[in-house]
Amino acid sequence: MADLAEIISGINERIHEEADWGVPAQYIPELAGIPADQFAISVCTANGRTYSAGSSHVPFSIQSISKVFALVTTLGRIGDQLWTRVGREPTGTAFDAISILETDAGRPRNPFINAGAIVTTDALLSGREPRQAIAEILGLIRAMAESDEVYINAKVARSEKETGARNRALAHYLLSHDNLDNDPEKLLGTYFHQCAIEMTTDQLAMSGRCLADLPNAPNVISRTHARRVNALMMSCGHYDASGEFSYQVGLPGKSGVGGGILIVAPRKASIAIWSPGLDGYGNSKAGTRAAAMLSHQTGWSVF
Ligand code: DON
Repeated sequence: MADLAEIISGINERIHEEADWGVPAQYIPELAGIPADQFAISVCTANGRTYSAGSSHVPFSIQSISKVFALVTTLGRIGDQLWTRVGREPTGTAFDAISILETDAGRPRNPFINAGAIVTTDALLSGREPRQAIAEILGLIRAMAESDEVYINAKVARSEKETGARNRALAHYLLSHDNLDNDPEKLLGTYFHQCAIEMTTDQLAMSGRCLADLPNAPNVISRTHARRVNALMMSCGHYDASGEFSYQVGLPGKSGVGGGILIVAPRKASIAIWSPGLDGYGNSKAGTRAAAMLSHQTGWSVF
C-alpha cells in the first residue's frame, strides 16, 4: 500500500478534478444552499495517527449519522429490548419511505431508516426530558471523539422542524400502531436536534475509533454493541444503496443527508468523509466515490 497521506491527498485532488458533486439536500432549507463543491476526508489509524485532506476542520450537519450514536446510546440504556420495536433488516426503500411502514405494520425494519430512528429516540426519551436525551447522545459523541467542541446547529434543527411533514407522518403512523410512547412533537423535536449535530471529519473519524476497535480508542462502547452496530451499518447504513456501497467499498458505513459518511475498517481505521452534494439515494455523491477509491487503494475491504 502506498503512503496513506499520499493516498488521501490524491483522492482529494481527484474528487476536485472530477467535480461530480451532486446536489445538497433540498428538503431541508438550511442545507439546500450549501455550496456543493466541498470535500473533506479524515482517517484515524491503529497507530494512533489522524490523516486528513481537504476541509477537515469545517463542521457539517451529521444528520442520519446521528442515528448510529442514538442507537449506541439506546442499546446502552435498554439493550435488546429495543428489538421488540425495531427490526434489523435492510429495506430496499428510501430512508423516509412511508409505504414500507404500512407493510411492516408499524415496526420499522431497521434503526437507520427515519421511522426506525424515531422509534430508537422514542425509547431513549422515555423517562427523561428532551434536553437530557440530547445531552446523552451529545455526551457519547464527545466521549467517542475525545472532543468537547461538538455542538448542535439550532438553525438546522428549526429548519427541519418547520418542514418536517414527512417525519410527522411517520411518527403519527407509528403512534397508530402503539409503537410510540412519547408525544410526537416532543419526540420529533429531540430527533431534529440530534440530526442537527455538527462535526468536522476529524472529529467524526475520531468518534469511529470505538466502532473500529482501534487500540487507542476510548472505552465507551461494549465490543458486543460495536459489532452489532457495524453489522447494521453494513446491511442498512446507506438505505436502498446499502448493497451498492457494500459492493463498491466493502466496509460498514453510515451516511447522512448533510453529505457525511462514517466508515469503519475493523481494527485498521476509522474514516470520515464529507461532501454535501447528494446522489439520488440521499447519500454523498463525491463522498461515496472517495470511499470506493480509498477502499480500493488501501485494500481495506472486509471481503
Ligand atoms: O429526518 C431526516 O430526513 C433527516 N434529518 C435525516 C435524513 C438523513 O440524513 C438520511 N441520510 N442519508
